[in-house]
Amino acid sequence: MKFDFDKIRSEFPILNTKIKGKPFIYLDNAATTQKPICVINKIQEYYSEVNSNIHRGVHYLSQKATMEYEKSRTIIQKFINAASNDEIIFTKGTTDSINLMAYSFAKKYMQSGDEVILSMMEHHSNIVPWQIQAEDRGIKIKVVPINDNGELDIDAFESLFTSKTKLVSIIHVSNAIGTINPAKEIISIAHSHGVPVLLDAAQSIQHIKIDVQDLDCDFLAFSGHKIYGPTGVGVLYGKKKYLNEMPPYQGGGDMILSVSFDKTEYNELPFKFEAGTPNISGVIGLGSAVEYVNSIGIENIYNYEKELLDYATSKINEIPGIYIVGKAKEKCSLISFDLNGVHPHDIGTMLDNDGIAVRTGQHCAEPILCKYGLTATTRASFAFYNNKNEVDSLIKSLLKINNFFN
Ligand code: ALA
Repeated sequence: MKFDFDKIRSEFPILNTKIKGKPFIYLDNAATTQKPICVINKIQEYYSEVNSNIHRGVHYLSQKATMEYEKSRTIIQKFINAASNDEIIFTKGTTDSINLMAYSFAKKYMQSGDEVILSMMEHHSNIVPWQIQAEDRGIKIKVVPINDNGELDIDAFESLFTSKTKLVSIIHVSNAIGTINPAKEIISIAHSHGVPVLLDAAQSIQHIKIDVQDLDCDFLAFSGHKIYGPTGVGVLYGKKKYLNEMPPYQGGGDMILSVSFDKTEYNELPFKFEAGTPNISGVIGLGSAVEYVNSIGIENIYNYEKELLDYATSKINEIPGIYIVGKAKEKCSLISFDLNGVHPHDIGTMLDNDGIAVRTGQHCAEPILCKYGLTATTRASFAFYNNKNEVDSLIKSLLKINNFFN
């Protein structure tokens, strides 16, 4: 399928906005992506024409809302090639998915002294939930180190397994430095030790083809808003054999079959993990976003963004004194950098004056920045609606900032 940049660009209304009188250049896509008009319309249409609660009503609109909500589940099941709809749990986002996992998985499968393996490049959302389990249940956290390029040390990873290891929970693409971790290899090593793997796909689902059956991935977490869908919705994929055994994370309506004060029977999958009225419009909007991505083709998106990343990397490298943080061989669509020690917040503010949005700070990934001896970087992250002209504008502004401070 042809990658029609002009058409794609016209489908994102916010990109026509002016910021401080300048054309808006949005390079903060790792924080959240912009929404295509079809997603915006779908949500508006839902509230104007469909709004009703799901799984509860016999009336027409309740049934329609239920149908659309469940249709999204099927769209997502197909998108990641899960074996069954029941393996797709809707959550509030990646953070919520990992918190669900940490609570329910640890409650079922982990005892005091059991171990979870994380990596040095995890987002806080894949560290803190495990630290809570460490406090509550006495589980232990082991950390895979990284090399100076920002790649996982696979030999060290292998050496961390013991008879107490119960789970590996690893980020697929680093939000702080862009490394693409070798998911298939990680999963195969973990499985050779009889250990399941949770892949945090918050920064990969929108860029890379993910086939959970091909990866043999046991759990996968991602957010809707990073894949052109609404905020406040996400997914936890899990193999049925685990999800069936894991206890619910939250109690409430819809996750039960029957309730009495003597005994409550939980609902079957996936509803067991979806207590209360969910984010119905969010789930429907997410389905529409994934259909939109399908209409372009995730492989086309990957190829386009790879070319843009290579272009941006070579241009940024020409700026005197710039240091790119994270030089992994396999990288995804973002560049984190230090510019001659100028504080990233100053860079971010000056770029903003030129209409350019980037993220500055520690990117909710303090341990990895610490490893590089930094407290903050500037991060430009790209999507398929960005182009080389926008990269050129970024470079021009960075050169100006560099001259100003040096
Ligand atoms: N985790 C998001 C980011 O990397 C918010 O910016």
